[in-house]
Amino acid sequence: MGKKRIKKILITGAAGLCGSVLYDGLLRLGYKVIGCDIQKKASRAANNLGIKINKNIKIVDLRKLNKVLKITRGVDAVLHFGGIPRHKPNEDVYYKILDHNILGTYNVFESCRANKVKRVIFASSAHAIGYHNRKKKLNDKSILRPDSHYAVSKCFGEALASLYADKYNIKSMSIRIGSVLPKPTDQRFLSTWISFRDLVQLVDIGLKNKKLHCSVVYGISKNKRAWWKNKSAYKLGYKPKDNAEKHLRQIITKNESKDKIALRLHGGVFTSDGYKGNLKDILKR
Ligand SMILES: NC(=O)c1ccc[n+]([C@@H]2O[C@H](COP(=O)([O-])OP(=O)(O)OC[C@H]3O[C@@H](n4cnc5c(N)ncnc54)[C@H](O)[C@@H]3O)[C@@H](O)[C@H]2O)c1
Repeated sequence: MGKKRIKKILITGAAGLCGSVLYDGLLRLGYKVIGCDIQKKASRAANNLGIKINKNIKIVDLRKLNKVLKITRGVDAVLHFGGIPRHKPNEDVYYKILDHNILGTYNVFESCRANKVKRVIFASSAHAIGYHNRKKKLNDKSILRPDSHYAVSKCFGEALASLYADKYNIKSMSIRIGSVLPKPTDQRFLSTWISFRDLVQLVDIGLKNKKLHCSVVYGISKNKRAWWKNKSAYKLGYKPKDNAEKHLRQIITKNESKDKIALRLHGGVFTSDGYKGNLKDILKR
């Protein structure tokens, strides 16, 4: 990192669930925050949880390089959370993913290079390692095994983060996010949940840590049943305050319970959707 402290940050996807949580949380921590999104109304995920979005969001379509170049001018860091956040079962969203996630992420990193932005925090996903055997605990060195086209876009983003760190010295943290929710409500979330305040803390560390080069961390709270070892995050200073286990009584659904494929693999129902694979081969890899 340069000598100057990170002060002014841009959040892409600021009308979304994570974007709104981070906008609010980082403003409180004293950052100067700019938010942008393709739209000004709350995303479906934010809306479902009744989350209020910031009114000052600027409209920017990440697919347009000239717009991204303009909005990233003069900022110290970008939190890249904009894009399509899911794989929709039985729906061909691949071309949308290609546009919004792959092209959009390229435009973000390339604009940061052109505008000498020092850091990028990239919203990756645990689905990037979705096809691993659930019996195995994973860490930041585990190989990528995406479970959907959506997850491939996250692998692309992590690769781009690595390239731009090594070649252009743009520091980055790719967060393989589990499940961002006020509280865990499904059995799966006992392992994958991250609370709002832990997400804000992790991103704040990504913005402040002086030794950061290009880290991959897991976006989870300190869950007793976590499937991912988060040593790389702890090494940077992450001290999660929450543990999904404390919310055991509020677990009301078991969405994976009848899905024999989902239950064996890290990515859950993303792995079984449209599945024509061979479980034996997957598990022994
Ligand atoms: N919420 C989670 O549990 C979770 C888990 C893993 C990864 N993530 C990742 O975190 C990020 C944010 O997720 P979220 O849950 O807040 O989703 P969200 O849908 O609430 O927010 C995403 C935002 O991105 C915006 N967007 C989409 N395409 C865009 C474009 N071309 N230009 C500008 N904005 C665009 C949408 O309008 C939306 O407001 C996503 O990249 C997602 O893949 C989230």
